[in-house]
Amino acid sequence: MKHFAVTGAVTASPVRGSQQLEKDEEDGMSEQGFKRFRRRRAPAETAPAASEESRLSPLEAPASAVSAQLPATLPEPWERIRQVPFQDAAERKVRLPLVSQFRTAPAAKSFDLLRTRLSHTLKARGWKRVAVTAPATGCGSTFSAVNLALSLARVPGSRTVLMDLNFRQPGIAQAMGIQAAADMGALLSGAVQMEDQLLRPLPSLAVGLNSAQDQDAAEILHSRSCSAAVDDLMLRSGAETALFDLPPVLEHDDTAAFLPQVDGVLLISDGTSTTAAQLAACEKMLAGHTELLGVVLNRARKSDSPLN
Ligand SMILES: Nc1ncnc2c1ncn2[C@@H]1O[C@H](COP(=O)(O)OP(=O)(O)O)[C@@H](O)[C@H]1O
Ligand SMILES: [Mg+2]
Repeated sequence: MKHFAVTGAVTASPVRGSQQLEKDEEDGMSEQGFKRFRRRRAPAETAPAASEESRLSPLEAPASAVSAQLPATLPEPWERIRQVPFQDAAERKVRLPLVSQFRTAPAAKSFDLLRTRLSHTLKARGWKRVAVTAPATGCGSTFSAVNLALSLARVPGSRTVLMDLNFRQPGIAQAMGIQAAADMGALLSGAVQMEDQLLRPLPSLAVGLNSAQDQDAAEILHSRSCSAAVDDLMLRSGAETALFDLPPVLEHDDTAAFLPQVDGVLLISDGTSTTAAQLAACEKMLAGHTELLGVVLNRARKSDSPLN
């Protein structure tokens, strides 16, 4: 008989009262007394409990209650990369001319052309990782990497990653007008995950910024943890294209150290200063280690452009 004391209706009455009632009934239950007892108990047993849902097993509970109990599923890693305002930053004075700001200019058309050709080559070969470098500082590798990434990111439904691996002179944050509080070294050592280091200035573009100069850059880029971090980045971001902005080939061995991680290289030459000897030296250095996807002529004279 003890069980009735814990039904909904009874627990609502004072505990002592219910115990007393139970005792009375057990002490001497005549047939009449039993009927009275049944009548008194009936409403308690048939009436719905105070909270119907609370008595249901999870399988019987209404859908709303079940979904409220289930742990929320995490969005995929790309969606967890923090979005940052970019158009506002682009409207402010940023260091580099950005193709997203002047869509009809010849430079924007050149980057769209480069994007399309590069995408075709990468897709045909099943490649994704591209190093962007130059023979010397100032040729425009950051300028080209940023603008090419913006052009790639304009393809609907695409995903592009742009990584600043120039530990000598990081430049993507400044070029895009985004605050760089990021530690690229921590990402490449495996201490930080990509969704905690990267930022998304556009829904289809994630950038890995670099803020600290590091004299041990070549060792960092050569390390096993760097290789693992890049593999993890490619796998979990789901990006079709990753551009890695690297220091000049002829000034540091950082790019050479990172070559095993990429499928090919885009070499940016400065139409106003790069010499044929410099380009030949770069090609010699890259030969046998990676594929030279193309030599981009930056700061070309108008007559050099195929679009004119
Ligand atoms: N085609 C270009 N048109 C206008 N400015 C350019 C162009 N290419 C490079 N620059 C400017 O030249 C400077 C050096 O370019 P940057 O991309 O930082 O060189 P790198 O990364 O190769 O050292 C930057 O201030 C950039 O704005
Ligand atoms: Mg640069």
